[in-house]
This record gives sequence, structure tokens and C-alpha cells, in this order.
Amino acid sequence: MTARVFCAIDTPDLDQSIQLVRNLSAVPLHFKLGLEFFTAQGLAGVEKIRAVAGDRAEIFLDLKLHDIPNTVVGAVSSALCGKPQFLTIHASGGAAMMKAAVAAAEKKTKILAVTVLTNLDDNDLSAIGQATPAADQVLRLARLAQDSGVDGIVCSPHEIKILRQNLGRNFLLVVPGIRPSGSAQGDQKRTMTPKEALDLGASYLVIGRPITAAADPLAAAKTILDMK
Ligand code: C5P
Repeated sequence: MTARVFCAIDTPDLDQSIQLVRNLSAVPLHFKLGLEFFTAQGLAGVEKIRAVAGDRAEIFLDLKLHDIPNTVVGAVSSALCGKPQFLTIHASGGAAMMKAAVAAAEKKTKILAVTVLTNLDDNDLSAIGQATPAADQVLRLARLAQDSGVDGIVCSPHEIKILRQNLGRNFLLVVPGIRPSGSAQGDQKRTMTPKEALDLGASYLVIGRPITAAADPLAAAKTILDMK
């Protein structure tokens, strides 16, 4: 398995993040920086991680933007200063917002849409006025995202098969909720191993704690990357 895994750096601490990225620089990992890191460290922090990660590593800025198109355009333009290869928005922001984000990205970053957050079940969706079952809503939003010109979506391992069938082979499916066999599930409930997810058609995997919380993160990453 080469160059298809984002390691999730989920900490607000810059020194800890730099140490982790430096420690992992011996393996072909990419890095995902989310709201926890970005809210604390901003674009300056992203630049610092990029410098340590080197040119080979791609940066995925997981900001899950969701606002009126004009505001999202401004946020995407600002995010481009951090030179991320991937940036997330929420598909539920609607077609106009997604199209505006894609245009603002100027093909300098790939826009990924988040469909339904995996912590929400049918009851949660019903409570916010979405009577559609979660699985149907995921497919509806994924189709809308594809029609709006985004490069791909973030989805759970259990949605890969149906999304591949409906969205074709070239749409990017970026998949968290990955657990190598034998590793702790943590708060992830419906997981798959890296091999299972890639065999089903995942484009990229997002793996956090199985690497970052391991006693030896580099050894854990090597084991994961050697699996396929
Ligand atoms: O530590 P773990 O492997 O569970 O980390 C998964 C990463 O993917 C975290 O950064 C988490 O926020 C993110 N994520 C997720 N489930 C989603 C979307 C993103 O776990 N549906």
C-alpha cells in the first residue's frame, strides 16, 4: 500500500504535531489536519507541518466548511494560502455553495464534500427534520456533490460499495473509520481494515489513533503500509 493513507493529526499542540510528523517522515504517509489543530495553530501551523512533512506528503485540511457561498468562497481562498492538496466542505451546504467552493479552489486544491456525519443516525436526522434514512441521505448528498463538481467525498467504509456503484470509478472516496485487525476501536463503531476498505474501492484512507496513539507510531505506520 503506497501513498494512499492520511494520518490524522488530531491535537491542538504544535510541538507534538511536529514531533509526530517528523517521526513519521520515514514512511510515505500524507497528513490530515482538522479543526482541532487549525483552530489553535491556523495557517502558520499548516505551513510548519508542511515544512516538516516535505514535498512528498500531501496535506488534507479538514475544515468542513458550511456557510453561505460568499463566505465559503472567502474561506477557500484563504485556505489556499496553506497550499493544502485536499479541503473539505459540507455537501448539505447545497449545490450553489459547493460550486462556489470548487470555483474558488481554482484547481489548486481538491474539494471533498462531507455527506452525513457518521455519528448521526436515523433518529438524529429525524430530529433535525430529515425523515430520509441516513443511507439514502448519504447517496443523495453524494450525487449532489458530484453534480456540483467536487472532486470526491469523505465516507464511512460501509458506504464505499454503494457509492462506487453509483458514482463511478473516478470520484474520490476518502475513508476514515479504519482499524487494522487487532487495534483498539476507540469511539469508532463500524470499522474496516485498510485492506478491506481499499479492496472495496477507497481512494484514500484516514487513520488516526492506530498510528498516533501507538507506543511506536512509526512501527505502527510501517505495519499498516506493508499490509497490501
Ligand atoms: O483516530 P481515528 O482513526 O478514529 O481518526 C479518524 C479521523 O477521521 C479523525 O480525524 C476524525 O475526525 C475523522 N473522521 C471520522 N469520521 C468521519 C469523518 C472524519 O472519524 N465520518
